[in-house]
Amino acid sequence: MSDKAILEINGQKHEFPTIMGSENEVAIDISALRAVTGGVTTLDPGFKNTGSCVSEITFLDGEKGILRYRGYSIEELAEKADFLEVAYLLIFGELPTKEALAKFHTDLKSESIVDDDIRKIIDAFPKSAHPMGVLSSLTSALTAFNPTSVDVDSPEDMYNSVVRILGKFPVLVAWAMRKKQGLPLDYGDNSLGYVENVLKMMFKQPNEEYVQNEILVNALNKLLILHADHEQNCSTSTVRIVGSSHAGLFASISAGISALWGPLHGGANQAVLEMLEAIKNDGGDTKKYMAKAKDKSDPFRLMGFGHRVYKNFDPRAKIIKVTADEVLNDLGVKDPILDIAKGLEQEALTDAYFIDRKLYPNVDFYSGIIYRAMGIPVEMFTVMFALGRLPGWIGQWREMRLRKEPIGRPRQIYIGSTHRPFKSVAK
Ligand code: SDX
Repeated sequence: MSDKAILEINGQKHEFPTIMGSENEVAIDISALRAVTGGVTTLDPGFKNTGSCVSEITFLDGEKGILRYRGYSIEELAEKADFLEVAYLLIFGELPTKEALAKFHTDLKSESIVDDDIRKIIDAFPKSAHPMGVLSSLTSALTAFNPTSVDVDSPEDMYNSVVRILGKFPVLVAWAMRKKQGLPLDYGDNSLGYVENVLKMMFKQPNEEYVQNEILVNALNKLLILHADHEQNCSTSTVRIVGSSHAGLFASISAGISALWGPLHGGANQAVLEMLEAIKNDGGDTKKYMAKAKDKSDPFRLMGFGHRVYKNFDPRAKIIKVTADEVLNDLGVKDPILDIAKGLEQEALTDAYFIDRKLYPNVDFYSGIIYRAMGIPVEMFTVMFALGRLPGWIGQWREMRLRKEPIGRPRQIYIGSTHRPFKSVAK
């Protein structure tokens, strides 16, 4: 692979260095492009061909369907790791020792009280408010109660900010759900594991003891790990660019939650369930929805299909599909929606339109079926995605700040009106 690229423009040739990553990915470093060409820039809507940074956190190969966090395969982590271990790995770069993991959990629990005044904010929301909007608002509001901005050059200060947001976020997640259900809000139970505590905060009924269900604990642990990071996706890029202005960690995470909310991104898991429900209510007529998805005049897309990077099966979708079968069997749940999903997948995988465009099921296609079997309301599906993605957002934000990345400020090509004199309204 050559170590330079040559660009010829306006009769001039210019050389640019290339960079090769540890997985042999190659990029052309165009940092000097404007300077050496007298102002020429590049244009790449959606940044389909443009790298925003170098990173040591997550590697994915879209053609081979590979996903690794800090070099560990998603298959191994989903099978063998605990979500908090994966959170620690993504944020600090190494799997924790037993002692470090125990301390991490203890420190995180010591930060799991949310200022009671946050209740006044959540009380102000109508029950009809979407929990993603509530979660983004409450996360931003945390800044008001924890105003000191993190000193990224102080490992202790950075660590304290990490455990603070990891400790408080699950409480906000549970509160967002229970507020809609008109249930009392509590602070969980520090005697429990992270995932067990999330389930108890979400599902404990005020007049009953909460009995843990290992099936749900294992399923949620796996789902959170599978959602934990995914390199420079839309919401993570948002967290990085907001943080690049040196806005605080909570404010940056709040922006990431808003980006994830969109149905083309994390909101797809809710949109998938709504689509499958519509197909079921329409007599299971998958062919009609396949035709809509292929009809250019119809804005409908087959939700849960396609991916910016994966042009092969999303490895997470494979794992989640197997887990969906296991969880429904273990729970003794027969869900016709799962059968419709499998039928739709089979049709799409044999349809020229999808094959030609390399559209495969992504992480969102099957996850909602498990969340539903767990009794999680459909409007909370993307909130569960955010709970999983939180350590990824934190790790990427920390990396961007530690590497002292410049403020993100893309260029543009102006295509509007050229200069014209002002005309007073009288004329
Ligand atoms: C996530 O980036 C990440 O890593 C994201 C994520 C993460 O972990 O952070 O993996 C999580 O967001 C998964 C994606 C969830 N979104 C959906 O399931 C929504 C449905 N999928 C699409 O909207 C779409 O596939 C995207 C947004 C995911 C990707 O879009 P791209 O890369 O911009 O591709 P494109 O829109 O240019 O599509 C290429 C072609 C087009 O057709 P042509 O113009 O070439 O004829 O494929 C078509 C598109 O119309 N197409 C679809 C389709 N997805 C793409 N057609 C029908 N149904 C679809 N789902």
